[in-house]
Amino acid sequence: MSDPRVAVLISGSGSNLQALIDAAEFPSYPAKIALVISNKADAFGLERAKKAGIPTQVISGKDFTTREAYDEALHQVLLDAKIELVCLAGFMRILTPAFVSQWVGRMINIHPSLLPEFAGLHTHQRAIEAGKKEAGCTVHFVTPVMDAGPILAQARVPVLADDTAEILAARVLAYEHKIYPEVLKDLALGKLAALAEKARAQTATEAAAAE
Ligand code: GRF
Repeated sequence: MSDPRVAVLISGSGSNLQALIDAAEFPSYPAKIALVISNKADAFGLERAKKAGIPTQVISGKDFTTREAYDEALHQVLLDAKIELVCLAGFMRILTPAFVSQWVGRMINIHPSLLPEFAGLHTHQRAIEAGKKEAGCTVHFVTPVMDAGPILAQARVPVLADDTAEILAARVLAYEHKIYPEVLKDLALGKLAALAEKARAQTATEAAAAE
């Protein structure tokens, strides 16, 4: 069987995208980064993709009047490119339950906190303000509720006395780049089936609650 085709969705710098590209360049890596999609035309990650010879596509929110229409277009782009797995890597859009339901178990996200703590934005500042001694990052299956899907991997780092949000973010980011390719590898190898099933059940509940 050929390696699953992966789309990486970004909005910005794309350092996690770069980590996935670098990992997938090894011949033994079991997934192919086949497409990079950004909702921002000026995302630096698009340059990273082009440099690696990976097709890119910009789908701007400005071209759609509803979230549903955006997500339908996104879904069609993924289908047209025969994408099998989706990695969200700093993709700053909330996805509709309908879209998530179509990709559940095949779509993962990386988040810069030790979920379930600090879902959402400004995670590092919030961790510092809360006096946390540890911070970190989480890779999880995506379900309709933001940052709430089954956890697949976490890495922990200390929060040091003089940390600013920027310093802590950099310490965490180095670990994001390690765990994200590892989880994608396991997903591509079919090793996450039990948690994918859990994500499907959770998605059904969350999507029903959102109606
Ligand atoms: C990362 O911190 C990731 O955890 C969060 O957004 C940031 C994206 O950074 N979801 P990059 O674009 O991968 O450099």
